[in-house]
Formats: sequence, C-alpha cells, structure tokens
Amino acid sequence: MAAFTSTILITGGTTGLGYYTALLLAQRLPSAKIIIASRTDKVKAADTLNHDLQKETKTSTTSSIKQIEYLPLDLSSTPNIRAFVANYASKSYPPITALLLNAGLQYHSGKDLRLSADGIEITFAVNHLGHALLFFLLKPHLASNARIVITSSGTHDPAQKTPFEAKYESAELLAHPTDKEGYATRMKGGQRYASSKLANVLFTYALDRRLKAAHDSRDAASWTVCAMDPGLMPGTALGRDAGAIVLWLFMHVATRLVWLLRLLTGNQNVHLPQESAANLARLASMVGKDAHESSGAYFEGGKEIDSSVASHDEGKQEDLWQWTVNFLARDEDEKKAFETF
Ligand SMILES: NC(=O)c1ccc[n+]([C@@H]2O[C@H](COP(=O)([O-])OP(=O)(O)OC[C@H]3O[C@@H](n4cnc5c(N)ncnc54)[C@H](OP(=O)(O)O)[C@@H]3O)[C@@H](O)[C@H]2O)c1
Repeated sequence: MAAFTSTILITGGTTGLGYYTALLLAQRLPSAKIIIASRTDKVKAADTLNHDLQKETKTSTTSSIKQIEYLPLDLSSTPNIRAFVANYASKSYPPITALLLNAGLQYHSGKDLRLSADGIEITFAVNHLGHALLFFLLKPHLASNARIVITSSGTHDPAQKTPFEAKYESAELLAHPTDKEGYATRMKGGQRYASSKLANVLFTYALDRRLKAAHDSRDAASWTVCAMDPGLMPGTALGRDAGAIVLWLFMHVATRLVWLLRLLTGNQNVHLPQESAANLARLASMVGKDAHESSGAYFEGGKEIDSSVASHDEGKQEDLWQWTVNFLARDEDEKKAFETF
C-alpha cells in the first residue's frame, strides 16, 4: 500500500469535468489518494484513470496500488449519502485536503416535476442539497487546511444572458415547488438547473462567512471555499436528458466545434472539459495565502469574477443555509455539529 498522505474527494468524477480533474490532480499530487464518487461507474473510470497513470509513471499495470478509487454515491438520497460517509469512514483514508462538490445533473424538458427519494425537486436535491449533507457529514474527515470547491455555472447569472433565468424566492419553494404559487409549472428544467447553480453560489458565500467568523474568533480549522463556473463544456454527459442523438452530438461532434460555439453564442467561456479541469484542479490545490485570499470568491474558469446580483443577497444566503441545515439535521445535536466550525 502506497503511503498516501492526503485524500481528494471528487463527486461526479466518473465522467466529464470531474474525470479530467481527477487525472490532473493525481498527476500533480502523487501522494494524494483520489476518490471519485457517483451513482454508477459503468465505464470503470477509476480503472482507466489508474491505467493511464501507471503507463505514465511506467509502474506495472498489475500493481495493487491504486491512486484513484471509485465509491458509489447517490446525491439524490440522504440515506444513501449517510451510508456513503459511513463506508468512507470505515476505510481510514488520510484527511481530506480538497473536497470537490462537482457532480451535477440537468433535466431539459422539465415539464414534469421530478422528485428525489426524499421528496425534493431533483435538480435542487442533487446539485445543492446532497452536496450540503455530504459536506456536513464529512467535516470530521477534513484536514485543518481543507479546500472546498463547488462547481456552479454561469447560468446562475441572468446578466450572462443564458437561456434560462435563475430564480430564488426561497429554498422551500425550490425544494417543494407547489402549483398553488404556480412555481411547479413556471419553473422548467433549464430554469431549475440555473436556480440550483445559484444555490451553489449562495451556499458558498454563507459557508465562507461562517468559516471566516470561526477563524477570526479562535484557533479554528482554516478551511477555505470557493465556487467555479467551468463554462460551457462540449464533451461532457450533462445533456444526457436531451436524448441519445443530442448527447452523442454534444459529446463527439461539438468537441471539434468549440470555436463555432463561441461564435454562435457570442461567449468565449466555452471549453473542452480537459481545459476546465485544469482550472478546477488549480483551485482545488491552492494552499496558504492563495487559498485564503480566494475564499468566498467566484471563478469563471481560472479568473475571479463577480457572481450574480442575487448571489450576493445575504437574506437569500441565510434563507438557504437555515433551510438546508433544518431539513438535513436529524436532531438538535446534529444541527449543532453541522453549525460548528
Ligand atoms: N457541461 C457543461 O457545459 C457545464 C457548464 C457549467 C457547469 N457545469 C457543471 O459541471 C459539473 C460537472 O458536470 P459535467 O459537465 O462534467 O457533466 P457530466 O459529464 O454529466 O458529469 C456529471 C457527473 O455527476 C454524476 N452525477 C449525476 N447525478 C448524480 C447523483 N445523483 N449522485 C452522484 N453523482 C451524480 C454523474 O455520474 P452518474 O450519472 O453515474 O451518477 C457524473 O459523474 C456539474 O456540476 C455541472 O452543473 C457543466
């Protein structure tokens, strides 16, 4: 067994952005154990990644030392997330120095309201709520200088003229959209996605405020958090709900037409997942002054930019935080543990 000294956990590392980020981080940090976690690993992503790494380092491909490991995780189910963390804890991995809350899904049609196993609108459940619970439960496993990077999206910002307008009235309405307010029918798939990505930024800012307050008041752990928009990435499987043909075109044809997509959308923020992975890996491996200076920041690729007006609304940040903690905590003791930094 190699002496790994730290762990990097990436949700959704089996395809797309997370996959290439896992590879880059493993290359850059050979002493870090890399865990990729998603619902399924049909393509055996961890095996392919380990194989590529072993080829590069010219170690035997039959070596039992696997730097990258896959663990099953379904972010749409709170019991599954709790089971994942119990499984994780039983493995005695070294402390987590980087937690990449990256997995995501998007439903395109959005006509029907899809609910998670916990009865929560599915996009909000996976993209925000499941990640929040994962973070809260993994707190005891984080290294004292852990870096948390949350993958958001430029679609969260209406000023970026994205096709869907993010909407945040309350966390309760995103979680349980009702027809009474017209919320269930007004919000279509793309808009639910953009709103969940706004929740990612609101949560980042609410968490950063708590980390800074704890750090200023005592010798608390010095965790840092930032959010990132990787840009539009042809070559990922995010469009899987749009049907097999669209997905195939997006994964195999659009990758050659990045320049055309930039031209057609008037947006330079279009990248192959390998390129965006380099930015995510850089943010994830920041330490010391760089990590602290960028805590509470929002990045478009590698560049720090301002996020949407709505994301800076402290009322919305706190509404989301309080609703999230109240929904997820099993009892008062757990609520206290979630809120202690
Ligand atoms: N692609 C883009 O153009 C784009 C643009 C801006 C932001 N983003 C963001 O980038 C991040 C990565 O997406 P991607 O583009 O790389 O898409 P992707 O290729 O579809 O990867 C998404 C990953 O999330 C996992 N996932 C989905 N549902 C899950 C669940 N319930 N529980 C656990 N894991 C789950 C998937 O694995 P399983 O299906 O096996 O669970 C997969 O590994 C997402 O947060 C996305 O919102 C993407």
